[in-house]
Parts: sequence; C-alpha cells; structure tokens
Amino acid sequence: MKNKLRTLTEPFRIKMVEPLKITTEEFRVSTLKNAGYNPFLLRSSDVFIDLLTDSGTGAMSDKQWAGIMIGDESYAGARSWEHLEAVVKELTGMKYILPTHQGRAAERILYGILGGPDKIFISNTHFDTTRANIEFTGATAIDIIYDEAKDPEVDLPFKGNIDLGKLKSLITKHGKENIAAVIITVTNNSSGGQPVSMQNVKELRKICDEHQLLLVIDGCRIAENAYFIKHREEAYKDKSYEDIAKEMLRLGDAFIMSAKKDGMVNIGGLLTMKDEALSLKCKNQLIISEGFTTYGGLAGRDMEALAIGLTEVFDADYLHYRIRSTAYLGENLRAKGIPVVWPIGGHAVYIDAKKLYSHIPVEEFPGQVLACDLYVKGGIRCCEVGSVMFGKYDENNKLIAAENELVRLAIPRRVYTQSHIDYVLDVFDDILELKEQTKGFHITYEPPFLRHFTARFEKN
Ligand code: F0G
Repeated sequence: MKNKLRTLTEPFRIKMVEPLKITTEEFRVSTLKNAGYNPFLLRSSDVFIDLLTDSGTGAMSDKQWAGIMIGDESYAGARSWEHLEAVVKELTGMKYILPTHQGRAAERILYGILGGPDKIFISNTHFDTTRANIEFTGATAIDIIYDEAKDPEVDLPFKGNIDLGKLKSLITKHGKENIAAVIITVTNNSSGGQPVSMQNVKELRKICDEHQLLLVIDGCRIAENAYFIKHREEAYKDKSYEDIAKEMLRLGDAFIMSAKKDGMVNIGGLLTMKDEALSLKCKNQLIISEGFTTYGGLAGRDMEALAIGLTEVFDADYLHYRIRSTAYLGENLRAKGIPVVWPIGGHAVYIDAKKLYSHIPVEEFPGQVLACDLYVKGGIRCCEVGSVMFGKYDENNKLIAAENELVRLAIPRRVYTQSHIDYVLDVFDDILELKEQTKGFHITYEPPFLRHFTARFEKN
C-alpha cells in the first residue's frame, strides 16, 4: 500500500498555533454539571477537541490571511467585492450575485420572498435554519429522500438524493402553482452529510423544467459533494472537482451558500440567481438588514478571504485529505464496533447512540448521554442530533421521539491533525468499556423553541 500514508497526511504545515488546555476528568465532571449536561453551554476554553460544528471553525491559509491585509473596506463597489463577484460568477454561471453575512441570511431573504402561507417547499432534507426560515413565512417544508437511504447502515453511494417519484406525486397533489421552490442540499447535512449525484440533479432539473419550478441549490458543501461524484459516478471520473461543481451549479436557478463551510472562511454567505426580477426583490430585502449590495454584512477583508477560499477548496490534494480524514475517523470507529451512519459522509461522522447505548430508552436521551460522556472522558465536544434536537411532545406530554438518536462529530477544516483524531478514537475505547454503567438524563429546563441550544439536564 504505497499510497496508504499519503492518503492520511495533511497537505499543509502549521505556521501559527493556538494552545489547547488539557484538563482532568475531575474538572470536566464538575464543568459539565455546571453546564447542565449540555455541551452547547460549555466554554470553548474548557474543551480539548471541538467537533460541535464544521461551520466557521476552519483554519484559513496563508494566502487568505494575506488577502485579509489587502481587503478594500469601501462601502460601495470595493475591489474585494469585484474579486468575490468574479469568482462566484465563474463558479455558478449565474449573473446576479449577492453577499450575505452567513447562510441563514441568504435563506431569510430568498425564502421570505418566495414563501408565505399555503406555499410549499420541497427538499431532500431541509437544514434546521432552512426549515425555520420557510416555516416563519407560514409555508410548509417537506423532506423527501429515498426510503432505503433512511436506514443508517445501508451502503449506497448517494444517500442524499432527492426522491424523484415522491416529488412527482407532491406536484400532482399540491399543484405546481403552490410549490415555491425545490431545494437540493449538497451534501445533505441533516441526513448524515451524504452526497447527491449529478444524475439526480439532472433529472430534478428536467422535472423542474416540465413544471416551471424554481430549483435552488443549497451548496455550502458543494466541493465535498463534487469529490464523491468524481469517485462514485463513472461519467465524472476524469473531470476536475471544480468542473463538477460548475456543472451542478449551472443546473440550478438559484444558489445559497453558507460560506462558513466550503468557502473556507469563518463568516460569510452567498445568494446567487439567474433571474433579474427575483434578484431585484432580493437586493431590496438585503439592503434592509444586511447592508449595501456590494458587501452584504461582510467586511471587505472577509470577501477577499472568501474569494481565495472558494478557489482553494477545489484543490485536489486538499479535498482528498478532507474526505479521507473524515472517513478515517468513521472507518476506525466502525472497526472498534461503534455503530456509525454508513457510508461516512463528507464533513462529519454520525454515531447511532440508540444502538450503542441500547440500555438507555429514547426518553432518557442516549445521544445527549454519549455527547456528555465524550466530554467527560476526553474533553471532546460534539452535539446530539436526536430527540433533544427534534423530539416533540404529544397531548399527554409523552415524548414523540426523533427518527434516530445520533451524535454528530463534525470535523473543522484544516484544524485538527491525525494525532488529534487518533486521540478521539482512543477515547472511544473508554466509552465502550464504560457503556453499561452510563445512565440516562431527564430535562430540568427547556425553552419553547430550538431547545437543544439551552436545555439543561440532570442524571437519572
Ligand atoms: N444550509 C446548510 C446545509 C447548513 O448546513 C447550514 C449550517 C446552513 C444552511 C445555515 O448556514 O450557519 O451560515 O447560517 N450548518 C451549520 C452546521 C450551522 O453546524 O451544520 P449558516
């Protein structure tokens, strides 16, 4: 295996370091108790390896930091804006480019205009901010992935695909005039970071053309998705990652991007489209809350760094390292007997906590327990994606559990080395050893919305 080592080696070296605090288990037990057993309420300085999200947590390159120094901070028509606009036009093939401060701002603008009571949005899976921005307008958001892709263990190459059969039935049922947009999220974050095939998007385009439906691509992980297409879709094996992304984006009518992911920056977002009339409406909304149309809530230096990041993300060595290093964690966890969502997605490894902690009933939140155990045993922070996040109550105050009880280990871009990831793997040995002893939780405080951010728990 001549290439074995190379596939796992970081294609960069470290020029600046940020010290991490190494804490004791005793310290972490009391810190977590004070945080109500909710990792969102921990201070980052008390965390050793932070896998809470891959959003805005990446490291910028020397070229991006150099770009920060030449950012043009003019209010209107800044050079940095021209640079960003040119890069994004080339990438998307779309004429109208709007910057925003992050992804959900682009969502609020576009879905605020398209939405409204009685409107329907259809997606492979709406991310939670996407759903919130749609539902806030009174519209309905419907998720349709293929049924077989819902099984966490089934090995399929494109588990993020939108179910085209279900889409056709929904068009017949609701009428095309009531469907505000179809949103394809690549990769599909809320269903395990699974990729979407080019074939699926091409067929989706045809259906949208037939029924004059607007097709929006939520492409915050478009480069990671392109990696999977090149390696899993025969027709694309000789194409560059960038050309694959360009081809996919040209199939959309609009593109939304949280640049905090594959934009390789700590803050930023994009909203682009082909239609001039829609772009004018969006510009008016953007000016109300984001700022002028040539900066959209970003500093000139942020736009400069983003323009550079959008080019760097397609580097073949970087993308190979990125996807392989996520798979390295997932494959090795699986080899230890930890049940993971399979195959491993692009930006995160998802653990099936219901299966791992089968002695803890869903009413006692096995995912939250695992997230807390990882902090206690190793100072690792991650988040539950299960009944704490998505659970509801029936009229008798009984929990209606989420479909799965997952824990997401999201990998920040270019931040942790393989040795950090090996450390995470080691911590799982302790988890396996102690799993029978670990106990469930009950909630002591929860807010009415998005409870996972601020809920507090106690041990049973
Ligand atoms: N769309 C997708 C697919 C996302 O994953 C996110 C954010 C957004 C939109 C919203 O973008 O955060 O810049 O406003 N996902 C982060 C995560 C928060 O942790 O997965 P934003």
